[in-house]
Amino acid sequence: MTGRLSGKVAVITGAARGIGRAAALRFAEEGADIALLDIARDVPGVPYAGARLEQLEATRVAVETLGVRAMALPSDVTDTGEITSAIEAVVTGWGRIDALVCAAGIDSWGKAWELTDEQWHRMIDVNLTGVWKTARAVSPAMIAQQSGAMVFIGSVLSHRANKEFSHYTAAKHGVLGVMRAFALELAPYGVRANSVDPTVVFTDMVMNQQYLDRLGGHEGTTLAEAREYYLRWNTLPIPWLEPVDVANAALFLASEEARAITGVALPVDLGALLK
Ligand SMILES: NC(=O)c1ccc[n+]([C@@H]2O[C@H](COP(=O)([O-])OP(=O)(O)OC[C@H]3O[C@@H](n4cnc5c(N)ncnc54)[C@H](O)[C@@H]3O)[C@@H](O)[C@H]2O)c1
Repeated sequence: MTGRLSGKVAVITGAARGIGRAAALRFAEEGADIALLDIARDVPGVPYAGARLEQLEATRVAVETLGVRAMALPSDVTDTGEITSAIEAVVTGWGRIDALVCAAGIDSWGKAWELTDEQWHRMIDVNLTGVWKTARAVSPAMIAQQSGAMVFIGSVLSHRANKEFSHYTAAKHGVLGVMRAFALELAPYGVRANSVDPTVVFTDMVMNQQYLDRLGGHEGTTLAEAREYYLRWNTLPIPWLEPVDVANAALFLASEEARAITGVALPVDLGALLK
């Protein structure tokens, strides 16, 4: 630990697994106390298994093992009441919020003209409105402190489209816009907002059989086939990111090293956007 976030308090959504969990561990290694938010159950309409309460609890234990405080707050980022209560619990318990990472998110797929209303609304609700609701809830604490850093996890699909992901692409383009809006409006209070926009990351969101079968166009698509696909998708000869690659970028943007950076979308994309 080099203490880049010593004495700070971070709120991380989607913290039960994947990128949110990796961010929680990296931020904790650097000395931050971590409030861990996650819905920690299946999300209707999402074609792969959701995270579990035990995973949220496991992240909490792993964070505490690093010698900082941890608070697990099961909550749905689309639910104004739940997200408001969770953020109130952090402010009441620890008195401040220095960093926010919005990593809660879902995936589903379908041709743009075949998506159901349910798929569309759920996607926008979680991946876009959920980010706004979380940032809205955290803003008063950061404004009162006259400091803070928000990091939204976008995607390369914040910048380009992909077939069968019109709703996800729309939500992630929206995250880019919301990030810029928070950056603009919070700057007078010394609060920054940026996004980290990854290419494919090795997490449950994409490394599940349903997603692989969609990718390969046949049942039983293997990881080896996915590797070939993503080597073509990316530019560097690396098939996918590990969650910690995204966490490290979020850590930089949340730290004082990035004190001059706001309103910026940082692709962590293995060069995918060069294509
Ligand atoms: N995995 C990738 O390839 C990839 C690429 C680019 C961007 N992203 C983005 O990174 C973020 C994290 O995804 P991940 O890959 O870690 O996936 P993941 O499925 O492993 O983790 C997402 C977490 O968000 C939680 N979550 C879902 N809906 C929620 C809600 N309504 N309220 C609170 N928590 C909720 C889930 O329970 C889960 O723990 C997402 O925004 C995703 O869109 C992922």
